[in-house]
Amino acid sequence: MFAASDVSALVRYTRQVVHLEDGELAVLTADGFHTFASGGRETAKEPLTVDWDAGHYDTGGYEHYLLKEISEQPESIARTLRGRLDERFHIAHLGGLNMDARETRSFRRVKIIGCGSAYYSGQIGAQLIEELARIPADAEPASEYRYRNPVIDPDTLYVAISQSGETYDTLAAVQEIKRKGGRVIGIVNAVGSAIAREVDGGIYLHAGPEVSVASTKAFTSTAIAFALLALHFGRVHDLSPSDGRRIVEGLRKLPDQIEQILKQGERIAELAKKYADHPSMMFVGRVRGYPVAREGAQKLKEISYVHAEAYPASELKHGPLALIGPDMPTVAIVPDDELLDKNLTTLGEIRARGGRVLMVGHRQPTPSWPTT
Ligand code: F6R
Repeated sequence: MFAASDVSALVRYTRQVVHLEDGELAVLTADGFHTFASGGRETAKEPLTVDWDAGHYDTGGYEHYLLKEISEQPESIARTLRGRLDERFHIAHLGGLNMDARETRSFRRVKIIGCGSAYYSGQIGAQLIEELARIPADAEPASEYRYRNPVIDPDTLYVAISQSGETYDTLAAVQEIKRKGGRVIGIVNAVGSAIAREVDGGIYLHAGPEVSVASTKAFTSTAIAFALLALHFGRVHDLSPSDGRRIVEGLRKLPDQIEQILKQGERIAELAKKYADHPSMMFVGRVRGYPVAREGAQKLKEISYVHAEAYPASELKHGPLALIGPDMPTVAIVPDDELLDKNLTTLGEIRARGGRVLMVGHRQPTPSWPTT
């Protein structure tokens, strides 16, 4: 019998875990346990089996957990997708939402909350939901939301995102929404965590534990979970079967595509060395590229202790372009989408000021691709 604040401390010894609610007490003996509500009444609790084991908690030959978890993304994404894509009706199976089609159709808005990287992945999610399901959606930091006495709307579906499932700001926001009668679902990685227990249903990421302090594989798995959610909402609204098929096929290809990106590790490390001495970096992206840029700037700050700022590419010319010059390189998120020309114009503006550009884009360069 062990007591710990996190399952990661326990899985070396056991995978059978009992979670305590707020105010609950436990008495542990060598061969058993008893739990009590705060008034002293004994409560009956069944242990839950966690699906993480001790193998998840060593670096597996990698230099450190961050590198291990970046490298795990093809498998973690495949696990998030497993059993959830339907080739026949081009839909997503998300039984954990506990919602039938009629109920799914009844929401008029989606509000997403989370902190830090979870919030940025929520911004991606809001865009996907609006684009595929045409339901108005937006994301807000849970750390702000919980303090501003928000209006809880019965026609809104609230979505809480958390890798750990234990972030107190997010938990407090969920409790506030529930107290006011709102319906909350969770996108959570840690099975049985506080947020997972609090919500009315949701999607588990199954990304495996994230030991590194910086979120990596949970961020990508959350974006994938949102693509599934947007597909699910879209197909009970107006997303056609052929558009559904396109999304399903695209999602299936992702683990292999990420594998290809990881193979460029050495080349990316060379680029990083080239830029490592700059005291500051700008990250830009347009529309769906913007939350990716925000996450990139966050990672640089957190891991390299280098100042970084993220801006929507379209906002650059409205002020921050003044900072661009040879000492301020820019990382630009430039997917090969309908915004390509707009993005290339922004890159031209950066280069005209002597700014160097590191571009994250698709493999096939267009003829007008800049060459920095
Ligand atoms: C950034 C990072 C944090 C977390 C945030 C929320 O790399 O790890 O910004 O994303 O603290 O944590 P979870 O998702 O556990 O609620």
